[in-house]
Amino acid sequence: MGRRSHSVVLGLSIWVCLVTAGSGIGANWGTQTSHPLPADVVVRLLKDNGFQKVKLFDADSASMNALKKSGLEVMVGIPNDMLSSLASNVKNAEEWVSKNVSSYIDNGVLIRYVAVGNEPFLETYNNSFIGTTFPALQNVQSALIKAGLSSRVKVTIPLNADVYQSPTERPSDGDFRADIRDLIINIVKFLSDNGGVFTVNIYPFISLYIDPNFPPAYAFFDGGSSVADGAITYTNVFEANHDTLVSALARNGYGTLPIIIGEIGWPTDGNVNANPANAQKFNQGFMTWLLSGKGTALRPGPMDTYLFSLIDEDEKSIQPGNFERHWGIFAYDGTPKYALNLGTSNSGTLVKARGISYLERKWCVLKASASLSDKELPPSITYACENADCTSLGYMTSCGGLDVRGNVSYAFNSYYQKNDQEEQACRFPGLSVTTTTDPSTSTCKFNIMIDTFGAAPPKSSLFPGKLFPASSVLLFFFYYCFFSCPSFLLALF
Ligand SMILES: *[C@@H]1O[C@H](CO)[C@@H](O)[C@H](O)[C@H]1NC(C)=O
Ligand SMILES: *[C@@H]1O[C@H](CO)[C@@H](O)[C@H](O)[C@H]1NC(C)=O
Ligand SMILES: *[C@@H]1O[C@H](CO)[C@@H](O)[C@H](O)[C@H]1NC(C)=O
Repeated sequence: MGRRSHSVVLGLSIWVCLVTAGSGIGANWGTQTSHPLPADVVVRLLKDNGFQKVKLFDADSASMNALKKSGLEVMVGIPNDMLSSLASNVKNAEEWVSKNVSSYIDNGVLIRYVAVGNEPFLETYNNSFIGTTFPALQNVQSALIKAGLSSRVKVTIPLNADVYQSPTERPSDGDFRADIRDLIINIVKFLSDNGGVFTVNIYPFISLYIDPNFPPAYAFFDGGSSVADGAITYTNVFEANHDTLVSALARNGYGTLPIIIGEIGWPTDGNVNANPANAQKFNQGFMTWLLSGKGTALRPGPMDTYLFSLIDEDEKSIQPGNFERHWGIFAYDGTPKYALNLGTSNSGTLVKARGISYLERKWCVLKASASLSDKELPPSITYACENADCTSLGYMTSCGGLDVRGNVSYAFNSYYQKNDQEEQACRFPGLSVTTTTDPSTSTCKFNIMIDTFGAAPPKSSLFPGKLFPASSVLLFFFYYCFFSCPSFLLALF
């Protein structure tokens, strides 16, 4: 074969590789929930809906084990709080890779990427991870090389879109944020030298949330607002933001570094702009645009993306806003919140999680006879809301239309369900009562918690960890022995 046909074949295989790497849609699987769905249920949910990739925030063993032989490609994450240890000693990185990559690959988990940290340069972290992120990345890469995995597992750092900006708002003027520019360029060079990728999380919802003058239509994908940049017209902030990154990379000599969208999505509750209609409009607009394969003006072609998020997480910090617990395309119990065509076998309707069992149809509410001026009322509401989840209460949220009594009931019920309907969780002094009549309204759902006991004990339970059935057996013996234990059994303890 001549030189020319060689390069044609090479070019073609690179193209095929790029196209395959970029095809298929992924999802973020977060686990900051009080009642996680069993890992095998989540993996089936991903597969039933045609997802081909999944992104994890740590190497949770239940999740990783459930992904064995699933056929799903995995981006496995390293939490920020592990960065300093991985940065300080390459041995720690080698152990991490051995335990959390090699052993799973050997058992049929298709790990494609390791995400080192998660948005470590967010301004709210006060530069806490500035010194450790890059050394941790380098040590993880060395460990992957040593383990013989560097050709199949690539490193990346999921970054928040605030690491770059454009002084003029025109994407073509994009560059990295001045205070961390040198660091980012060193990271980008390292990723480029090692076949890594730039992962970025882009949130049009946040643009709308933080800027009251942001044109709402520009957050979505159906036109109605645009920004001109030379010969290019941007009709949505996602493409403009993405191309600001492409320009920043190109300006610094890395215009062809692959980009992955690590998180993109829209929440359904907890803010005036967060509702199922807007979430569906955004996510479907994005999916339709993505499936067209046209890409952006500065990066035509398919794009590798992970939706944020698969399932709601009721224990996420609400410091960024009350919407933070409502990013899922599925609710806490794996039921779809709206129709979404992912361009996969799902053909327009999301398939709900299978094999979910619920606690009894029982709710905890404010007693009809309770007085709203009862002194015990304010501290009870505060207690319930601080220990459960009241993010669906508030201006223009799903339960924002409740009256004061409804509000109180909502808080009480949230606490009761989060505590697995334990009797003492509905004992607000003289104020609460359980009922079998569903207090839900047309928009406001008073949830019944899923029964996680049969699968894995909830994190908040007396016995920690995911030790079932061992822990339940122990617990059984414990109770049994406590009351009427034959001495030969007692001897076991
Ligand atoms: C593997 O990952 C888990 C979950 O992120 C973590 O707790 C554990 O420390 C890691 N193992 C090693 C050896 O670093
Ligand atoms: C960051 O710094 C600010 C101001 O110095 C402080 O109020 C805040 O608590 C710090 N946050 C963290 C996460 O350290
Ligand atoms: C219900 O509670 C929310 C959140 O605490 C509050 O914003 C709202 O004003 C309350 N509604 C009524 C009618 O008291």
